Amino acid sequence: QAFFRSIMNAAPSSPTKRHSKISVVGAGNVGMAIAQTILTQDLTDELVLVDEIPDKVRGEMLDLQHAAAFLPRTRIQASTEYSVTEGSDLCIVTAGARQMNGESRLNLLQRNVTLFKKIIPPLVGYSPHTILLIVSNPVDVLTYVAWKLSGFPSNRVIGSGTNLDSSRFRFLIADHLDVNAQDVQAYIVGEHGDSSVALWSSISVGGVPVLSFLENQQIAYEKEMLEKIHKQVVHSAYEVISLKGYTSWAIGYSVANLARTILRDQRRVHPVSVLAKGFYHIHGGDVFLSLPAQIGRGGVLGVTNVHLTQEETQKLRDSATTILHLQNQLHI
Ligand code: NAD
Ligand code: LAC
Repeated sequence: QAFFRSIMNAAPSSPTKRHSKISVVGAGNVGMAIAQTILTQDLTDELVLVDEIPDKVRGEMLDLQHAAAFLPRTRIQASTEYSVTEGSDLCIVTAGARQMNGESRLNLLQRNVTLFKKIIPPLVGYSPHTILLIVSNPVDVLTYVAWKLSGFPSNRVIGSGTNLDSSRFRFLIADHLDVNAQDVQAYIVGEHGDSSVALWSSISVGGVPVLSFLENQQIAYEKEMLEKIHKQVVHSAYEVISLKGYTSWAIGYSVANLARTILRDQRRVHPVSVLAKGFYHIHGGDVFLSLPAQIGRGGVLGVTNVHLTQEETQKLRDSATTILHLQNQLHI
């Protein structure tokens, strides 16, 4: 006997919105922070976790399922097998080695390329129309590796890139000026990490461009302060890793924010890692790095044409050279 008596002449249950499915590969600190933010923000109908450790991934699944009474309704599944990810709209890859105290992101490269060769082919085999969102480090080079291994058009392969660095930047500027970080517009572009580039001219608070305001007021000291803030952004992850061993909450929110823009076709501009060849005088190879890009249900829709100073353009090209140098040593 059914629990509910059926209502005569009622239309068969038909969802009013499209069913959506997100898969997260890697159920570690980062994968689980992303998964839990996606759940609390009601971003998908189905959430799938994949990890190579069967007990861990099942344990994480059960733990999240046990919160069902407090969460929006979402079907949660987990497995070590990629068949569970079939038909995903968005696949987020967080699997892989992470930095030890003091280690650079770039040092992780070869270990994570080896993993990606096992992860990307089955993932895209089960979801040939998905959007790939890469988080594992070094994220820019691994986004390139994922693009190559997937055979996807570049608009469907995105790296979480400097969306996180830009959030750290906005937080520190907001803290310094005692304003709300959501009112601060500011972009960090280039490599996620050590050679990232702060776009000073992009900083505005409540619509007021900060740099020209300071120049008009001739407040040179504040410019030094901004340089110091950028150094702090670059150092942020190292500091958190030395204190708690890994970073997780900020990247969890940053990636959930990207997932919302993609699945809800918000067409918002985010600094994310995209195929940058041809933009901002970046030539010399297929390099992925972060640029302010408009994203939506189709993936990357375009790259915005921000005005860069000569110095910013040069720094961005230097960042591209750093990444390309590593990429050229890879055997994919
Ligand atoms: P973690 O060690 O907690 O988790 C990694 C998970 O990957 C583990 O659960 C492991 O079992 C799983 N894994 C390993 N090989 C796998 C495979 N072949 N298939 C499926 N799963 C596999 O590490 P973490 O702290 O979650 O960090 C994960 C990655 O994210 C690291 O590379 C880290 O540097 C990166 N990260 C990136 C950003 C960013 O802004 N892009 C931010 C934070 C961390
Ligand atoms: C970050 C990682 C470690 O939190 O890339 O910036």
